[in-house]
Formats: sequence, C-alpha cells, structure tokens
Amino acid sequence: MQVQTVGVIGAGQMGNGIAHVFALAGYDVILSDISPESLEKALDTVGRNLDRQVARDRISLEERNTAMGRIQTTNTLEAMHDADLTIEAATENEEIKREILSALVPHLKQGAYIATNTSSISITRLAASTDRPERFIGLHFMNPVPVMKLVEIIRGIATDEQTYHMAQEVVSKLNKVPANAEDFPAFIVNRVLLPMINEAVYTLYEGVGTVEAIDTAMKLGANHPMGPLQLADFIGLDTCLSIMQVLYEGLADTKYRPCPLLVKYVEAGWLGRKTGRGFYDYSGDTPVPTR
Ligand code: CAA
Repeated sequence: MQVQTVGVIGAGQMGNGIAHVFALAGYDVILSDISPESLEKALDTVGRNLDRQVARDRISLEERNTAMGRIQTTNTLEAMHDADLTIEAATENEEIKREILSALVPHLKQGAYIATNTSSISITRLAASTDRPERFIGLHFMNPVPVMKLVEIIRGIATDEQTYHMAQEVVSKLNKVPANAEDFPAFIVNRVLLPMINEAVYTLYEGVGTVEAIDTAMKLGANHPMGPLQLADFIGLDTCLSIMQVLYEGLADTKYRPCPLLVKYVEAGWLGRKTGRGFYDYSGDTPVPTR
C-alpha cells in the first residue's frame, strides 16, 4: 500500500513536529487529540515553526501555506479510516499507548500500517495490542522534529519486510536519516542519552556542580549544543523519568536507577519547559537556573 495519508495521534511536542514534517513532505495529515485546546496549540506551533523556516529561506511562503492546508484536525479516531499509516505519538506511558492502539484498530482500513513514536517501550508488546503486529513498527523521531535528521526504525518480532520497507521509504521522503535499532529498552539514542542526563541530575543532587556549572561544562567541555539539564527540561522531565524507569525495569541493572531528585521534580509537577519550570525557571524572558 502506497502511503499518502498519515494519521498522527497526540498533538503534543512530538505530534505537532511529526505533523509538520509529513505535511511539508507532501503527505496529507490527520492530526488527532482528545483535547481541542491541544489541537489549537499544535496548529499554532506548526504555523510558527514553518514561519521560522520561511524567515530563514529554508522553504517558500507557498510551501508553508500548502503544508498548513494539508493538516486536518480531529478529536476522535474515526477519521483514521482514511490513513494509510497512523503514527501514535501520545504520552510515554505504556497503558495509555495500549488503550489508544486498541481503540484505534477498529477504525483502520484493511492493510493500513501503524507506527509508534515511543522513545523506550517494547515495540513487540505494543504491537500485541493491535490486530496487525506484522504491519506495526517503531518510528522514533527526535525533538525538535523539523530540525533533527535522525529517525530510529525499530522492528518488533512480528514486523514484516513490507512494513520495514515502507518505514525506510517514508523516512527518506522526509529527507531524514534512519538508524536501525533492535527492540531493546530505549533502543539506541535514549539508551545512551538518558543515562547521561540522569547522571547530570545525580551530579546536581550530590552538589558536585550547580545547574549552570553542569550545563556550561558539558556545552563547552564536550561540545554538546545544549547542556544535559537544559536538554532534560527540553525533552520533559516526566518523559526522562519514564525512559529511565523502562531502562531500570527492562534491563534490571541498578546503573539505570532514576536519580531521586528527578523523581522529586516530576512529583512536584516541575516538568521542564512545558510547565514553565524544571531545572530552569522559564517565567521570564531568559531561563534562570533554579539551583
Ligand atoms: N522548528 C523548525 N525549526 C526550528 C525549530 C523548530 N521547532 N527549532 C529550531 N529551529 C531551527 C532554527 O530556525 C534554526 O534554523 P537555521 O539553521 O535555518 O538557521 C536552527 O533550527 C537552529 O535554531 P536556533 O538558532 O534557534 O537555536 P540553536 O542554534 O540553539 O539550536 C537546537 C536549537 C536545534 C534545538 C539545538 O539547541 C540542539 O540541537 N539541541 C539539542 C537537541 C537534541 O539533542 N535533541 C534530541 C533530544 S532527545 C530526543 O528527542 C529523543 C527522545 O525520545 C527523548
């Protein structure tokens, strides 16, 4: 089946970026979220990010407007009947993802593909909540989606060759670069990146350095574009914690134990940029370190 219409479930940080790049690459996009406010916010974000690309001469105004026109929004999963490929990009919680996938399946046409943007959860287990594990695959985009070149492709135990080829073709049409990862907890990027972020939080927790010192050290000392605590706020501290928990439980090794300070921040609702506070306070014009 040729993929022309792509459904995206979840209009959050990743969902809006995924809708953005598919629409820009010429796909028709159906963006779905239970919250009308999230959909409105997502369209606004896509519009602003496309404007940014116009301002930097990356795309023309006409391409911007055509891409915006290709995105339709919906509060239900019924419209996914038209999708050749549906990408689940809901919150990083296995129970929620499984519920969405079970609710999605009755609306899909025969032969339609399903992908998940999970950043850590087993593709094989998620595929088992659908009626088509052979047409199910992991497509893991990086944040910010319009900028980051990589997409991890993860096959579950039942994923067939046709679905894998479809994934490769889609990634190449988006002008992104694939990396194949086996279906192990957190795949490649987050298996390496999240323990580094967690260690930065331990470094803060143990008083080895302040937020500013840790981020400056890694930006200037290791040439990272963002410091690890700034990056944690950017990813979302709830997502960072979920990924560490998947690593800790999935690999049964104490080296993946989430830092208690990360747990405490999430319990406090300090989830990073999206809530206005994490390791930095985002209430003013420039972020201010909180420790
Ligand atoms: N949409 C479109 N364009 C965007 C954008 C967005 N959301 N955000 C930034 N840009 C563009 C800018 O317009 C600019 O474009 P040009 O190159 O054409 O000038 C370019 O990106 C650089 O942006 P800025 O100049 O504003 O800022 P910067 O140089 O500080 O870069 C950044 C911003 C690209 C986010 C950079 O800080 C960076 O690479 N940070 C690290 C990001 C990272 O590691 N992401 C992975 C997170 S892990 C993950 O996603 C996996 C997971 O599951 C948790």
